[in-house]
Amino acid sequence: MSAAMAEPQQQGSAETLEQLFKSEPDRLSRLSFDVAGIHFDWSKTHLDAGSIDSFVARAEDMGFAAARDALFAGDIVNPSEGRPATHVAERGSGSPQDVDLATARRQRMRALVDAIEAGAFGELTGILHIGIGGSVLGPALLLDALGRRTSNLKVRFLSNIDGAAFDDAVRPLDPATTLVVVASKTFSTLETLANLEAARGWLSGAGIADPDGRLIAVTAKPEAAVEQGIDESRILQFGEGVGGRYSLWSSVGLSAAIALGWDAFEALLEGAAEMDRHFRFADVRANAPLIAAFADRLYVERFGCQTRAVFAYDERLRLLPFYLQQLEMESNGKSVTNDGAAVAWPTAPVTWGGTGTDAQHAVFQLLHQGSITVPVEFVAVTEAEDDQDPEHHRLLLLNAFAQGAALMAGRVSDDPQRAYAGNRPSATILLERLDPRSLGALVAFYEQRTFANAVLLGINPFDQFGVELGKDIARKLSEGAGDAELDASTRALIHKAGI
Ligand code: F6P
Repeated sequence: MSAAMAEPQQQGSAETLEQLFKSEPDRLSRLSFDVAGIHFDWSKTHLDAGSIDSFVARAEDMGFAAARDALFAGDIVNPSEGRPATHVAERGSGSPQDVDLATARRQRMRALVDAIEAGAFGELTGILHIGIGGSVLGPALLLDALGRRTSNLKVRFLSNIDGAAFDDAVRPLDPATTLVVVASKTFSTLETLANLEAARGWLSGAGIADPDGRLIAVTAKPEAAVEQGIDESRILQFGEGVGGRYSLWSSVGLSAAIALGWDAFEALLEGAAEMDRHFRFADVRANAPLIAAFADRLYVERFGCQTRAVFAYDERLRLLPFYLQQLEMESNGKSVTNDGAAVAWPTAPVTWGGTGTDAQHAVFQLLHQGSITVPVEFVAVTEAEDDQDPEHHRLLLLNAFAQGAALMAGRVSDDPQRAYAGNRPSATILLERLDPRSLGALVAFYEQRTFANAVLLGINPFDQFGVELGKDIARKLSEGAGDAELDASTRALIHKAGI
C-alpha cells in the first residue's frame, strides 16, 4: 500500500482481512453456511473469533433466544402496538390460533386464484396491482424475479400518487381484460385510495359496465375496504399482526400467486419456512441470519459505517435493494429501545445498492478508493435462466467474485492515484438457482437478519411511527389547514408552487 493511501476506518479489528485468513485458517468454513439451496459467505468480513464471542455474549445479554422463541410462538414482539408479528404464521410458525387463521385465509385466497384461473373474471390478460410500500414492493420483487418467462399475464404495479405513474402503469393494459388488485393493510393510505379512484375512472371511461366487479381488495381492515365501496365477496383479509413490509406471504401476494401459479406461491412459503427453521434451531455460531446481523453491528458500531450496499448480480433480482430498503430501514431506523430509552448503539445504516455489473461502472470507484468503508453484499445465482447465454452468465458471476477479491486484496502502487487500500469487506450470497423456493428462503433470511439486528439493539422492528408526521402535515395541508404552524421556508415553497 502506498504511504499516501489512507486506510478506511480500522477501529473494528486489529487484523486486516488478509491477515484474518492467515490467522484463522478455518474461517472460510466457519463463516460460510449452506441453507435452503443458498450459500452464504461471510468470510471476507472482519468478524473474527473474538468479535463473534463478544456478539454471542451480547445476544445472550439482550435475550436473543427468548425473543426468537417469542417471535415463533406468536407472542407479543411488537410491544408499542401490542401485537405479535404473524408473518411467520403465514409460513407455519406461531400460536396454533394464528397459524390456523393464516391457513384458513390462504385457503380462501387459493379458492379465488382457482376461480380466476377457471374464468370467474372472464378472459384475463393483465393485472393492475395498486398499493404502496410493503403492499407493493414484495409482489413486484416476486414477479420481476420469477415472472419474466413463466407468466402470460401483464402485471403492472401502481404505487405513486403521480399521474405519470398511473399513465405508465395502465398504458399496456386492456381495461376490458384487466383485474385490479388493491392491496393496503389499512385501506386508508392516501396514494392507494387516490389510485383506486383513478382505476375506477379508467375502467368506466373504457365503457366497462361494472368497474367495481373487476376490483379485488386485500387488506387487514375489510370494513375500511367496504367503506370504499368494495363488495365483501371480493375482499381478502390478512392479519393485523402481519406488518406491511412482511406481508408478501399473505394475500398481499395475490397478484404474484395469480401470475406465477399457486404451486409457485406455496413453494415460496416453503422456502421461507426452511429458513425460519434454520434461524430457529441452528447454533448461534452457524446461524446465517444471526452471523450476518453480527457483521452488520460490527460495521455500524465499531467501524462507524453509516451505509451498506447490496448489489444483485442478476437482473432478475434488480428490485432486491429497493425491497431491502423498506425492510431494513423502516424496521430498524429507530432511536429508542422498547422501553423508550435512547438506544446505546447506532441503529440501522442506510441500505442502498444496485445491479451488477452496471454498478461497477458507476459507484464502485468510491467502494474501492473512497475515504469511507461501505460493507458490500453481492447476491448472485449459479444457474442461468434456461435460454440465457452461458458465457454471459459466467462473466457476470466472475465479475461479482472479482469485485469481492479486489475489495479485499487492494493493489500496491507507487502512484497514490492508482493504489487500492484493500481490506474492504464484502459478503456473498450465492443461490444455486432462482426459483420460488430459494427466493422465499432469501427474503426470509433478510427478515430474520433484520429481526436479529433489532434484538441486539433492544428495539422494536415491527412498528413505523416515523412515517406518520410527514403524512399528518400533508393531510392537514391538503385539507387547507396547518399553514399557520409551518416554517417560513415551507410556506414559501407552497406559495411558489401556487398550490
Ligand atoms: O407509510 C409507511 C407505510 O405505512 C408502510 O409501513 C406500509 O407498507 C405502507 O405505508 C402502505 O400502507 P398500507 O398497506 O396500509 O396501504
